[in-house]
Amino acid sequence: MANIKVLVGSTYGNAQQVAEDCAEQLNGLGHNTVVLAEPKLEEVVADDTEVLLVCTATIGLGEIPNNLMPLYSQLKDQAPQLSEKRYGLISLGDSGYQNFANAGKLMDELLQELQVQRVGETLEIDACETPDPEEAASEWISAWAAQL
Ligand SMILES: Cc1cc2nc3c(=O)[nH]c(=O)nc-3n(C[C@H](O)[C@H](O)[C@H](O)COP(=O)(O)O)c2cc1C
Repeated sequence: MANIKVLVGSTYGNAQQVAEDCAEQLNGLGHNTVVLAEPKLEEVVADDTEVLLVCTATIGLGEIPNNLMPLYSQLKDQAPQLSEKRYGLISLGDSGYQNFANAGKLMDELLQELQVQRVGETLEIDACETPDPEEAASEWISAWAAQL
């Protein structure tokens, strides 16, 4: 069973809700999961953080939400050594916008640069096609958790 930190990027609450549901599901499977609504660098680099689950929406013109941006910038600037850690990624967006799910793509690129090991493929949830993002995430989490 893993210590999992859920890193939330949310402006209007959708990604936050998905993150909380995922955490409940993961804890039900026996993992120790904490949702970080304003994730801090110290919490990410901590030795007892084994797995990161990024759950972010995209805002503005393809940007990372304000609550996740400080962590993104710090990780980019400080480039900590994170190759022992693993991550998964849930990316919410709306294909009616030009830069669909771009915040998830930016987080994915950054975590790859930092050599964090990705578990599974990114789940992209398009608000145009998916009326119930929690349900989509729940199915994905079942498969993802089986790979941890
Ligand atoms: C002002 C605004 C800008 C947005 N820009 C984008 C975008 O560039 N790309 C995208 O895929 N989705 C974009 N979205 C859609 C959001 O990512 C989507 O609605 C998401 O579910 C919001 O999640 P949140 O409630 O956690 O903030 C935008 C939404 C708003 C309201």
